[in-house]
Amino acid sequence: MIGIYFSGTGNSRYCIEKFLLEYDRQAKACSIEEETAAQEIECHEEIIFCYPVQFSNMPKIVKDFINRHYTLWQGKRVFVIATMGLFSGDGAGILARLLQKYGAEVIGGLHLKMPDSICDEKALKRSLEENRKLIARTEVKIKEAAENLQENRPQREGLGFQYHLAGLFGQRLYFYHKTKDYTDRLKIDVKKCIGCGKCVKLCPMKNLFLRDGTAAAGGRCTMCYRCICQCPAQAITLLGKQVVEQCYIEKYL
Ligand SMILES: Cc1cc2nc3c(=O)[nH]c(=O)nc-3n(C[C@H](O)[C@H](O)[C@H](O)COP(=O)(O)O)c2cc1C
Ligand code: SF4
Ligand code: SF4
Repeated sequence: MIGIYFSGTGNSRYCIEKFLLEYDRQAKACSIEEETAAQEIECHEEIIFCYPVQFSNMPKIVKDFINRHYTLWQGKRVFVIATMGLFSGDGAGILARLLQKYGAEVIGGLHLKMPDSICDEKALKRSLEENRKLIARTEVKIKEAAENLQENRPQREGLGFQYHLAGLFGQRLYFYHKTKDYTDRLKIDVKKCIGCGKCVKLCPMKNLFLRDGTAAAGGRCTMCYRCICQCPAQAITLLGKQVVEQCYIEKYL
């Protein structure tokens, strides 16, 4: 068995690592950003796939990875974990349906609430203490879910018709365009940018580069918020106008 994941700010990585510790200590977690990810999938029959929900949908980078490797999923047994700030409806279901289209058997689904990675929208922010408590509750949920899977009665959160409707009408219908393509809306404040290059190294899409001593962005952002949450000058924004509080998992542990 192998854990496959995408994680912008570390929540999904943290969740899948915790899950694997409880479920199968021998299993390792591999990011879709690693060159060996496709090979790892090929070698394993059972897969735990974890990803962050965006607007009740999957990030474009995740969708493209699954579509690009469409031949890999036939006959795989997949347990889907969706991490989210608040609500997704059918977070696990949306990825499950795509995998099923390519011949995978989806054996269960799990929804995990984690700190919201959107760090430039004040309305979405919780206090540090609230986020720590949230993670503690999620850890309990992960332990229970891993035990349930071991005992062959996996959770099925996000899978099925009711969840599908909740995802569709709760958000996806209104925000479908947000994750349909990569975005060119990332903004870099060149007055704040100190040209350190950290964001360039971090971006999973190779969407950032240095030009005349400051960072610049292309049009292939998957909205993972990694660069925005890690920029030492708080010079990057996407959905909001100003960074309110940078979020990355290490901060809450
Ligand atoms: C662009 C974007 C859209 C998001 N949309 C949702 C959403 O629709 N529902 C929700 O509950 N959380 C949403 N979130 C929050 C993330 O799903 C959540 O923080 C997730 O755990 C981040 O995981 P990561 O650190 O592995 O990237 C969104 C985050 C981003 C960056
Ligand atoms: S991480 Fe921030 S300060 Fe460093 S180059 Fe990127 S935008 Fe500029
Ligand atoms: S530009 Fe920033 S937010 Fe967009 S994909 Fe790259 S690291 Fe993620």
